[in-house]
Amino acid sequence: MRAIVVGTVLGVLLACTAWVPVAVCTAVAADAAGLYAQCAGCHGEDGGKAALGVARPVKGQTADALYGKLKGYADGSYGGSKKAVMAGIAKKLSDGDMRALAAHMASF
Ligand code: HEC
Repeated sequence: MRAIVVGTVLGVLLACTAWVPVAVCTAVAADAAGLYAQCAGCHGEDGGKAALGVARPVKGQTADALYGKLKGYADGSYGGSKKAVMAGIAKKLSDGDMRALAAHMASF
């Protein structure tokens, strides 16, 4: 299990470094699905849930918008009443993780 997680993260990092446009990361959506597993409990398998009753569903949003929001949670420039929840999560994501997750969520 650990090897699978490490392999997934490495794969996403290699495919989604900072200079790769968000759209290109869609190609690694399968890896991103592994990363999204930690988000599905709150946001729903298909991104359609209002997490903790307050979040705007991620489903239906563009990759660029979602990436910007993840960055915003990490640097404190975005968020609502429960932003502390996402700030804690976003700070643990690498830039490549955020790009891959954004592309994955935009594909719902
Ligand atoms: C413990 C529940 C929980 C988990 C786990 C979680 N989120 Fe969230 N998420 C929230 C809440 C609550 C909000 C709304 C926070 C606020 O008030 O801004 C949110 C907001 C968001 C938003 C912004 C939605 C919008 O349009 O404003 C994005 C994008 C997002 N989460 C992505 C993720 C990703 C990606 C993961 C996994 C790495 C994740 N979340 C894991 C609870 C969670």
